[in-house]
Amino acid sequence: MTARAQGKTVGDRNGPQAAKVSGSWAGRPSGVPGAVPPPSVPLSFLAAASAGLVACGVAWGWVRAAAAADPNSDPAIAAVHLGVLATLTMGVLGATHQFTPVITGRPLRSVRMARATFVVWLATSWLLPLGIGFEQTGVTAASGGLAVVGLVLLAWNLGGPLSVRKKGTPVAALRLALVGAAATTLLGATFVGDRQGHWFVPSARVDLAMGVLGLFAWLGVTYIGVAQKLWPMFMLAHVPGRHRSGTVAVWATWLGAAVLAGGLAHGSPIAEWAGAGVLGVGLGAHLVSLRAHLRRRRRKADLHLTFVVTAAGWLVVAAGLALAGTLVMAHHHHEGVALVAAAMVAAGGWLLEALVGHAHKVVPFIVWSLLRSQGAPSGPSGKPLMFADLYHHGLAAATYGTLTSGIGALCAGFATSSAPVIAVGGVLLAVTGIVTAANLSVRSLHQLTAVRRGTGLPARATAYRPAPAARRM
Ligand code: HEM
Repeated sequence: MTARAQGKTVGDRNGPQAAKVSGSWAGRPSGVPGAVPPPSVPLSFLAAASAGLVACGVAWGWVRAAAAADPNSDPAIAAVHLGVLATLTMGVLGATHQFTPVITGRPLRSVRMARATFVVWLATSWLLPLGIGFEQTGVTAASGGLAVVGLVLLAWNLGGPLSVRKKGTPVAALRLALVGAAATTLLGATFVGDRQGHWFVPSARVDLAMGVLGLFAWLGVTYIGVAQKLWPMFMLAHVPGRHRSGTVAVWATWLGAAVLAGGLAHGSPIAEWAGAGVLGVGLGAHLVSLRAHLRRRRRKADLHLTFVVTAAGWLVVAAGLALAGTLVMAHHHHEGVALVAAAMVAAGGWLLEALVGHAHKVVPFIVWSLLRSQGAPSGPSGKPLMFADLYHHGLAAATYGTLTSGIGALCAGFATSSAPVIAVGGVLLAVTGIVTAANLSVRSLHQLTAVRRGTGLPARATAYRPAPAARRM
C-alpha cells in the first residue's frame, strides 16, 4: 500500500505500524495523530524564526537612518525581508508543516522533503536580505532561484495532504495560502531577476503589492485558517453551528488581498479601493470570529489570550494607519509614505504577536510529546510533566512586553520618520527573539538530557489523554 493510501487511515495509528507511514515517527506516544511529522520538522522552522527575529531587530538598528529617510531604500528592503521571510515565513512554514497533516488527517508526502524545504527556505530568507543589503547581485540572484525551488518543494509536499476530499475552512485556507505563496514567490523572483539587469523600475506601489500578497494572501490566510482549529483548543471554546465568520474571513481576506495587489501593481485606483474594501471585510470577519471564541471560552484569561487579543489590536492599528496614509499621501507624499510603511509594520506585528503567542503553546506541546516518546519524565513537583512546566512564565510575560513595545516603537518610528525610535524597536525585537528562544528551549533541553541520561524521574504510567492535558496548557 502506498504511503498516501495509508494516510487515509493513519489518523490514530500508533506503534510499529506507524513508523512505516511517511509522516510518522518512531516512538510517537499513543494519542498523538499518526500523520504528524517528527518534532524536529516544525521545531527547526520555529528555531530559525527566532534567529530571524534577532537578525531583523539588529538590522533595524543598523539601517535606522536609511529606513527613516526612505522606507523603500535597499537597506530597509533588506531589514523588511529578515522580518517577513526569516521570521514570519519560517514560523508560518513550521506551523503549516505541523498542522496541515493534523487538519487533513494525512501525512506529508515526505519528511525528507520537508527537511529539504527547511534548508532551502532558510537559505533564501537570509541570502535575499544579505544580497540586497550588501549589494551582492549574485547572492540576491541565488536567493531568487532558491525561493522558486523552495516553492516547488513546499507545493509538492503539502499537495499530498491538501488533495484530501475533506472540505472545511482550515483546509480551504491552507490551499489558498499555497496559491498566495506561489504568487508572492514568483513576484519576488521577478524582482530579483530585474535586479540583475534593471529592465524595469519597480515602483513603491508594486513593492507594496508584494507586501499585501505575502502578508495577507499567504501568511495571514494561513493564520486565519489554522486559528479556526487552534482557538477552540487553546481557549476551550466551542462555537456552535456553522461558523460563517471564519469562512468569510478566509475567502474575503484572500480575495481582497489579491484584488488590492493587482490594483497596486497596475495602478488602478478602482481595484485598489475595491480590494481594500473586501480585505477589510475579511479581516473584520476574522475579528468577529475571535470575538465569538472569546465569548464562549471556558479557559480563564491567560498569556496566550493576551497575545491573541493584542495581535488583533495591531490589525486595527494597521487599518487606521493605511487609511490615514492613503488620504495624506495626495497632499504630503513623504508623510503619506511614512504612514503606509507604519501600516505594513503593524500588519506584520499582527502576525508576529500571534506567532510568538502561539509558539508558547505549540512548542511546549510538541516538546512534551517528544519527551513522552523518550520516557515520560516527571515535572518539578514529581507529578506527571505538564506543557506549562516547559518554560518560565515570568519570562514569557516579559517577552510579551518587549514584543508589543518593540512593534509599537517600530510603528511609531516609521510613522514619524524617526531613526532613534526605529532603533529602539529593533533592539526590543532582538531581545524578544533571544529571550523567546532561550525560554522555550532551556527547560526542554534540560528535561531531554535528563531522560536520555536516565536521571529524570519516571512519571506514573499514565496513557496520553489529550483533553485533560490540554486544559493545563
Ligand atoms: C511573505 C513573503 C514576502 C513579503 C511579505 C514581502 C514583502 C515585501 C515588501 C513589503 C517589499 C517592499 C519593501 C520596501 O519597500 O521597503 C518587498 C520588496 C522586495 N521583495 Fe519581497 N516579500 C516577500 C517575499 C519575497 C521573496 C520570496 C522574494 C524573492 C526571493 C522577494 C523579493 C523582493 C525584492 C527583490 C524586493 C525589492 C523590489 C525592488 O527592487 O524594489 N520577496 N517585499
